Amino acid sequence: RRPAAPADLILAWYDRHHRDLPWRVSPPMAAGGIRPDPYRVWLSEVMLQQTTVQAVKAYFALFTTRWPTVTDLAKADTEDVMKSWAGLGYYARARNLKKCAEVVAFGHGGVFPDTEEGLKALPGIGDYTAAAIAAIAFDRQSAVLDGNVERVVSRLHAIETPLPAAKSEMRALVAAMTPRERPGDFAQAMMDLGATICTPRRPACALCPLNADCRVLGRADPELYPRKAAK
Ligand code: ADE
Repeated sequence: RRPAAPADLILAWYDRHHRDLPWRVSPPMAAGGIRPDPYRVWLSEVMLQQTTVQAVKAYFALFTTRWPTVTDLAKADTEDVMKSWAGLGYYARARNLKKCAEVVAFGHGGVFPDTEEGLKALPGIGDYTAAAIAAIAFDRQSAVLDGNVERVVSRLHAIETPLPAAKSEMRALVAAMTPRERPGDFAQAMMDLGATICTPRRPACALCPLNADCRVLGRADPELYPRKAAK
């Protein structure tokens, strides 16, 4: 029998160990979950760009209670939005958040674009956020690469090229791993794996669903990956 593909192992792990986060659907897609609201996915991803999951939870609850839809946020007073953002930092991001809500609400009839390209055209949405929203909210097979995912692939494939030069190689490897089925769950599974198992220090390799496939485990110190350019 052919050994299971890494994506299948990761999804099976995710079904058992995914974190229950307020912006996720529960249960995951495969178990009959419904597609998450693009507004909530977008809001959570913008908040998560600069802040930990733990800290984002309260802000996410506050924003979605005050402004349940993108149109509510678009109509909000900018000063109110800025005040609610206080503590998350990077105020340019809050201004872009408001601008993006206005473009979606008043320019797109309240409907988020459902492709990476369409999403990238919106204020404050870069490569990472566009790929994440396309995968998680619209089930697009986009390659989602954040710091956690970089760590997982750099160890899995023993990538010796240092960051940031290694990024395109990493993105290609993630694209090759990303399954047609459940790409959004796959992206979030890779993030959870990086956050809870394949951690920067003392990774829990014994618990990792990919330990049999990992090119670093048993050969080198996983903590040395991803390689970083000498300062
Ligand atoms: N970090 C950024 N986006 C995330 C997500 N959707 N799940 C877990 N961690 C994340």
